[in-house]
Amino acid sequence: KILIVANWKCNPTTLLEAKRLFQTVSKTASRILKIQIVVCPPFVYLPIMRQVGKGAIKLGAQDCFWEQNGAFTGEVSPKMLKDIGCSYVIVGHSERRRYFNETDEQINKKIKAVLKSRLNPLICIGETIEQKKHGQTPKVLRHQLESALKGIDRKAIKKIIVAYEPVWAIGTGIACLPEEAQSAGLYIRKLLTEKYNRRTADLIPVLYGGSVNANNATNYIKEAKLQGLLVGGASLNPKEFLSIIRSVSLL
Ligand code: PGA
Repeated sequence: KILIVANWKCNPTTLLEAKRLFQTVSKTASRILKIQIVVCPPFVYLPIMRQVGKGAIKLGAQDCFWEQNGAFTGEVSPKMLKDIGCSYVIVGHSERRRYFNETDEQINKKIKAVLKSRLNPLICIGETIEQKKHGQTPKVLRHQLESALKGIDRKAIKKIIVAYEPVWAIGTGIACLPEEAQSAGLYIRKLLTEKYNRRTADLIPVLYGGSVNANNATNYIKEAKLQGLLVGGASLNPKEFLSIIRSVSLL
């Protein structure tokens, strides 16, 4: 199944809007069997979304902590997320790396904690515009992926999902060319093959994220041959998000 993941980020600001958005998407989602839709709302909305959804949509969190419980004021653990019905956790999103100074080491600890709770980590990696200009994209992807997966064995790896999210494409309206997304996707698979093996690497979905909209969504599946999409801004507009889902379902 193709994965289409909605990352609502810090939106919307009321529960009412969150419910409306979720219900609208949920109605259509239950009819489209070819695609697994995952919605990642802010933490506070998660339990309510679980109640209003019809079960066709899986829930994801946008982040989590690396310990399961304890004296860590303000944190939310994978164990808690699992308990309220979450299936996925986005880890290492570039906005967390940039605004909250998340390090590769912290991201690795989070991924391990997510796996320990039997949730699927959705690991985000991608280069900045400066790194791209200097031809450093492969080097950055290699470094981010290797440090994210440090100490994670072949058995656990089957639950992971990797999202190629070039930082310069996130929230800018400048989407990545399908050829670029394809070569990043192939490179990620090569890195996974090196670390594990071909069979294992082939089981891991690689998604594209960064200014995905209804006009470009199919390019990343059909041309770039990736296994899904991570949609930010466009997932807040139900019409736009549903047309992304429909266009991909028609492929
Ligand atoms: P965007 O965000 O679709 O708004 O570019 C994608 C993301 O940050 O996951």
